[in-house]
Amino acid sequence: MIEVENLVKTFGDVTAVDGISFRVRKGEIFGFLGPNGAGKTTTINILVGLSLPTSGTVRIAGLDVTKHPIEIRKRIGIAAQDAYFDHHLNIEDNLFYHGLLYGLPRRELKRRVDTALRWSNLERYRNKKFHQLSGGMQRRLIVARAMLSDPEILLLDEPTTGLDPQTRRQVWKFIKDLKVAGKTVLLTTHYMEEADLLCDRIAIIDHGRIIACGTPDELKKMQAKNIVVDIKLRREIAGNQIERELNGIPGVSYVKIEDSRIRIGVAEEATVEAVLRSVITTNGICELNIVRPTLDDVFLHLTGKEIR
Ligand SMILES: Nc1ncnc2c1ncn2[C@@H]1O[C@H](COP(=O)(O)OP(=O)(O)OP(=O)(O)O)[C@@H](O)[C@H]1O
Ligand SMILES: [Mg+2]
Repeated sequence: MIEVENLVKTFGDVTAVDGISFRVRKGEIFGFLGPNGAGKTTTINILVGLSLPTSGTVRIAGLDVTKHPIEIRKRIGIAAQDAYFDHHLNIEDNLFYHGLLYGLPRRELKRRVDTALRWSNLERYRNKKFHQLSGGMQRRLIVARAMLSDPEILLLDEPTTGLDPQTRRQVWKFIKDLKVAGKTVLLTTHYMEEADLLCDRIAIIDHGRIIACGTPDELKKMQAKNIVVDIKLRREIAGNQIERELNGIPGVSYVKIEDSRIRIGVAEEATVEAVLRSVITTNGICELNIVRPTLDDVFLHLTGKEIR
């Protein structure tokens, strides 16, 4: 549904998007995971025709964005990071006027507005103004508005930023419903947990580049070597006998000893047992932690920094 090839976008001497390529398949939830300034919104703006690429190509449903902007706009719903609602109108009228922009006939539009309000569970609030809604309601409304034209593709720019954990969960459910309805979704996020839970595939983006792309499991497997066994022994470790011994175990990728503490990088689960057996026979263990790789570890490893 979305094919991006060597996309570059510069603003003066700032390169916001630096040669990215990716594809989003029909019916997939695809996530852009990256820190502030990574180039997520810039990419979305190009996809939706709000901004022109400096170079590279973007095709949506087989159509080039620069050649068929209007055609493409009809097939995409966008929930922007800084979505605008008229503060003088209630939310029902906001939805109605938004729909008029898509050239929907009034009667049909009326029906769709009702569906959107029902779907976002905001029927009771139809006469409220946007700013009178809670953060979670606002987010649901923004997505519901993006759905008004019944687009095949939805672009959701940070759909849950700033929401409390409970409300975030509601919005997640809402996004999962989009997938069930057969929509193709591209979303951006700062949250590892969100990307992990919602996305079929994730592109990790930093400084305008995609530095890794795959299913959440594939990304975590890239870090399988970084299962860390962290052991504290009863006494300080003397000499390098134990270090040699541990390094001799197949599957041990590194051993780091500091006073009475050993950190052992292990390539696979099966090795953990061999490591423990070796340490137990020579020393007493007083503390043991097995750290599993999370998407945080992947991000940390790839970019050398925490996401926020
Ligand atoms: N219109 C513009 N003019 C100049 N620079 C811009 C413009 N839009 C974006 N940039 C720059 O491009 C880079 C990428 O910005 P972008 O908004 O795409 O990041 P983002 O990944 O969406 O970040 P955030 O998570 O904060 O929303 C930043 O360095 C930003 O300052
Ligand atoms: Mg952004």
